[in-house]
Amino acid sequence: MEIVIRDDAAAVHRTVADIVERRVRQGAAVLGVATGSTPLGTYRELGRRHREEALSFASCRAFLLDEYVGLPGNHPQSYRSVIATEFAAEIDIDPDAIDGPNGEAADIAAECARYDAAITASGGVDVQLLGIGSDGHIGFNEPGSSLVSRTRVKTLTRRTREDNARFFDSADEVPHHVMTQGLGTILEARHLVLVALGEGKAEALAASVEGPLAASCPASVIQMHPHVTVVVDEGAASALG
Ligand code: F6R
Repeated sequence: MEIVIRDDAAAVHRTVADIVERRVRQGAAVLGVATGSTPLGTYRELGRRHREEALSFASCRAFLLDEYVGLPGNHPQSYRSVIATEFAAEIDIDPDAIDGPNGEAADIAAECARYDAAITASGGVDVQLLGIGSDGHIGFNEPGSSLVSRTRVKTLTRRTREDNARFFDSADEVPHHVMTQGLGTILEARHLVLVALGEGKAEALAASVEGPLAASCPASVIQMHPHVTVVVDEGAASALG
């Protein structure tokens, strides 16, 4: 595992964009895209490189990490919408080449199975961007998640619903259930890039990279992966030994 500590968020986003760009310029990249606030600066930087430096995503595919169950796909906080507006709209990726779990599916379990199989059928994710929850989740694999889990429904912890309330008009609006790639699914990506910003992530980050491998800190599963880059600012790095 490589840990890169940068001075500030802008430098973190440039470093992460460099990793993505390197793979995209090789052609036909399969990108794993996270939502939440952490990757937004990276998506803006990739959009800038597309406009100003001819970085093309035309041959790329993208898979979302997770989705809220029950939010309409066109709800501004559905992850489908967030990726469409914050990422796809900034670049030249084919919108049909972006897939995510359908949170409105009539049969959610079947949709999770379809999604997991679609990722495998694509040949697998080349570069998977990951944020980290303050409780140590990646995707929406909350503490207690099986380390070999596949895409499935999870219930958000109270802490995650409180953390995500800032995206909604009121805390009550945050859905209780999500569909998320499992930890086993995430581990099949060829390169994991875990990004964390700010002191609020410091404890979870330290537990993930220096603590024991444990379901109580799902992000610690990255310790089992052969190719991981952790990119953090000084605040998120502040609890590292
Ligand atoms: C979102 C996701 C989550 C977030 C995490 C951090 O697709 O998978 O694991 O990465 O909740 O969220 P932010 O970046 O908003 O702090």
